[in-house]
Amino acid sequence: MNFPQLRLRRLRKNERIRRLVRETSLSVDDFIYPLFVRPGKGVKIPISSMVGQFQLSIDHIIEEVEEADVLGIPGVILFGIPERKDEMGSEAYSDDGIIQRAVRAIKEESPDFLVITDVCLCEYTSHGHCGVVEGDQILNDPTLELLAKQALSHARAGADMVAPSDMMDGRVAAVRKALDENGYSETPILAYSAKFASSFYGPFREAVESAPQFGDRKSYQMDFANAHEALREVRLDIQEGADIVMVKPALPYLDVISRVKDEFDIPVAAYNVSGEYAMIKAAAHLGWIDGERAMMESLLSIKRAGADFILTYFAKEAAKRL
Ligand code: PBG
Repeated sequence: MNFPQLRLRRLRKNERIRRLVRETSLSVDDFIYPLFVRPGKGVKIPISSMVGQFQLSIDHIIEEVEEADVLGIPGVILFGIPERKDEMGSEAYSDDGIIQRAVRAIKEESPDFLVITDVCLCEYTSHGHCGVVEGDQILNDPTLELLAKQALSHARAGADMVAPSDMMDGRVAAVRKALDENGYSETPILAYSAKFASSFYGPFREAVESAPQFGDRKSYQMDFANAHEALREVRLDIQEGADIVMVKPALPYLDVISRVKDEFDIPVAAYNVSGEYAMIKAAAHLGWIDGERAMMESLLSIKRAGADFILTYFAKEAAKRL
């Protein structure tokens, strides 16, 4: 059958029909809310490039978690701004580090709420790179040991899941081994598997003050021209023991999300990153788009591409709309 007998508009006639045939839906279960934690008390510093997002001290983090919990959001992912940054990022793997303290505090107040921690050195190193630096090189193997220590100390603090985001080769295996050898064989790994060297991380780097002090991240994060390589990264992370794989950023990489979902039978997460958030907020602020609708459309498109869940700064706003 063809036009004029066949008319696809029949099923778009009204909202009730559209609801019946809608293929994809968003739910509050799909969101993980990223939070930025910093030392101090009563500290709430707005992040200028991410309207509505803040650097928060632990007391405020607790409030945010309670609010997210009430909205039905399953969990948060934590990023830390340490007291002090140094060459080796030592606060990253200190049991007294900002993340470790935040996790313990959240778990004390809301033991069931899901706490995921970002495992990476860039927020903690004075040079802003995600690994150990020698000259102008970012060393792979010496970094693995530090990442494993960091993940282990997060698990010891009570983290429900750890998320390595550094893009060193072999980090998932190193983290898995450290967890397994120390009694945390039940702690899942959410691997940032296909993480691209993206300009869309700009606002995040302002948020955690982690812009690299020299060079860029292209020797470890992926070339954004490559999709086959993304599948190789995912395959390797699965072999090394990842429980969930992630594609990051989300919107410019919907093709990658879709291919990963088709190729592998493992849950796929997508990170709707800071720049994606900032673009919608900025255009909405200028009155150039309807921010709420653009938010819902973006999040839905990430699900339609195949993501099982989304890390997004829109989590609370979207949850309120659902
Ligand atoms: C690295 C990390 C980054 C983001 C999450 N983890 C930044 C980077 O690689 O420079 C970016 C998240 C965002 O832009 O929202 N620890």
